[in-house]
Amino acid sequence: MRIDIVTIFPAIFDALDISLLGKARQNGIIDLRVTDLRTYTHDRHRTVDDTPYGGGAGMVMKPEPWGEALDAILGVQDVQSAVLDGDPVVIFPSPAGEVFTQRMARHLAEEEHLVFGCGRYEGIDQRVFDDAHSRARVRLVSLGDYVLNGGEVAALAMVEAIARLIPGVVGNPQSLVEESHEDGLLEYPSYTKPPVWRGREVPSVLLSGNHGAIAAWRREQQLERTRRVRPDLLSED
Ligand code: ADE
Repeated sequence: MRIDIVTIFPAIFDALDISLLGKARQNGIIDLRVTDLRTYTHDRHRTVDDTPYGGGAGMVMKPEPWGEALDAILGVQDVQSAVLDGDPVVIFPSPAGEVFTQRMARHLAEEEHLVFGCGRYEGIDQRVFDDAHSRARVRLVSLGDYVLNGGEVAALAMVEAIARLIPGVVGNPQSLVEESHEDGLLEYPSYTKPPVWRGREVPSVLLSGNHGAIAAWRREQQLERTRRVRPDLLSED
């Protein structure tokens, strides 16, 4: 999968050089390219923002550097044509977007080319989204109902959630099956050795060797935990 990230803080994405994602990049499973938006500015101060039309607080990201950066990544389309299923998906992290979920991560993990456009300040000039719509599938995606200083941290989280679902990125695919949100429930608690630590015992069923009983106990733990902390997950279809 190819992943492009456009940002004014490329260093934030150095974190993607390490651990499983770093290995997946080295192995060629993920072709991740980070573009500094300021490469596409042409003034001495490398300006990427300006005051909002209509007034108001804060600054808005100018359309020109974004347009050039996306042209370089997506190519320029001379004739207006329909956006197709196989076209790149451009994701703009934004608190105004649809909420990112495991289900969305699963779908995006099947794409060939994702582009993350990380906005800062009060947002990006609306025409950048409208222009990108002409040659890519564009989505505004929120990490959750809170506000970050920009899209970078949200993009990092999304890239990790998506990339680990690509075959070959996580060593043991079974570990992807038994985790929170994969079956609509939160995961069960895990234990390892020693059997007693600071007077706290591992639940005896886990030491019983009875696989049926262990599976039933884990399921019950999942249900109990989900009911307690995320009852909203049980009411969804
Ligand atoms: N940018 C700022 N806040 C955000 C959020 N909650 N999700 C995605 N991008 C953001």
